[in-house]
Amino acid sequence: MKKWKFALLFAVLVFALAACAPKNTNPPDGEPTGGAELTGEAGPTAKPTATPKPTEIPVKVKDVLGRRGIKAGTCMSYYMSTNKKSLEIIKENFNSITFENEMKPDAILDHNASKQAGDIVVRFNNNTLSMLNWCKENNMAMRGHTIVWYSQTPNWIFYEDFDTSKSLVSREVMLARMESYIRQVFERLEETGCMELFYAYDVVNEAWMEDGKMRDCLWLQTIGEDYLWYAFYFADKYAPEYIDLYYNDYNEQFKTDTLYEFVQTLVDENGNYLIDGIGFQAHLYTEDSLEDYFATMDKLANLGVKISLTELDVCLGSWPNIKAATDANLKVQGQFYYNLIKGILQRVDAAMINMDALTFWGFSDAQSWRSERSPLLFNKNYKEKYAYYGVLQIKELAGFEE
Ligand code: GLA
Repeated sequence: MKKWKFALLFAVLVFALAACAPKNTNPPDGEPTGGAELTGEAGPTAKPTATPKPTEIPVKVKDVLGRRGIKAGTCMSYYMSTNKKSLEIIKENFNSITFENEMKPDAILDHNASKQAGDIVVRFNNNTLSMLNWCKENNMAMRGHTIVWYSQTPNWIFYEDFDTSKSLVSREVMLARMESYIRQVFERLEETGCMELFYAYDVVNEAWMEDGKMRDCLWLQTIGEDYLWYAFYFADKYAPEYIDLYYNDYNEQFKTDTLYEFVQTLVDENGNYLIDGIGFQAHLYTEDSLEDYFATMDKLANLGVKISLTELDVCLGSWPNIKAATDANLKVQGQFYYNLIKGILQRVDAAMINMDALTFWGFSDAQSWRSERSPLLFNKNYKEKYAYYGVLQIKELAGFEE
């Protein structure tokens, strides 16, 4: 981009931001949505004194989403919580945290203590506790992730005496263990003094397959098909009212009808939902159809539950044809992020979906589970990508051709 154009853009941004305050309210009806407010005409007083760098653009991810009352989230690993540059980016851009691994079943279920107690024992280790404290000190809201899952869950919880050389326990024993496990998650959280940071919890993760069948797992084998209903029933019983209970899954756009049917089964004896929201993991590809994706979102939102993107990252190309991180492909990624976020903001503005948080599965390609597919907003050197500006709804920097 030519220097004078950049200076003009910067002036536009500064002026538009001042005009947009306060930030946390929805625009009135009829006002442009998405990033349009960032690209209007500059006022006569907006005179830049020097050519700005893109990093000086005074709007961050949490500002763009916050104007619609949407929290901006990222996952956080223990490494990130001890890395200066990561913490800087997190504090600038995000106000919600999901722990990448530190609250998963294998991180919080204590084998020795369970054997001794003769019941499942939940315990948060020092890494988890120090991350919780960091979130509290830095005013971060939190999504809990995750309780009932087929993966990263130790097998011993399903066996007699917590010993995998013995038999699987009966349905009754496993239901009792499940209740104890879920109750203790919320008891332990209460003890940390951090419970109030949590606004959402993934009660169940990835229970359904693309063909509409339930995924085979030890929860299913020991309890039976209603293990999903019981998971929500116990979570509803023990979680405080202010924590929304979520079902979270990937390939959501290929499971639309399955999830639509499933959510309607999660009701109590009075017909009230035990579930509050559906988590769209949103592990996407630049060649995915946004039209299909929004169609899934619109259909599931019609159930009257919240919709949240919980693990957003966008790989280059399609599966399994991953594309290289060339400038051209990264521009396409910037456009994809721009269009995705724009479509979401429009839906929130039109009250078509109820979304109070949108979480990315990290921020830098250096620390992504799909690192070699360059899916995030910052590159491996923590430099902003077209993708970042796409999310900020700054079309001029998001990789669109001039
Ligand atoms: C799933 C899980 C996440 C994480 C990713 C891979 O999406 O829900 O917790 O494990 O896989 O990193």
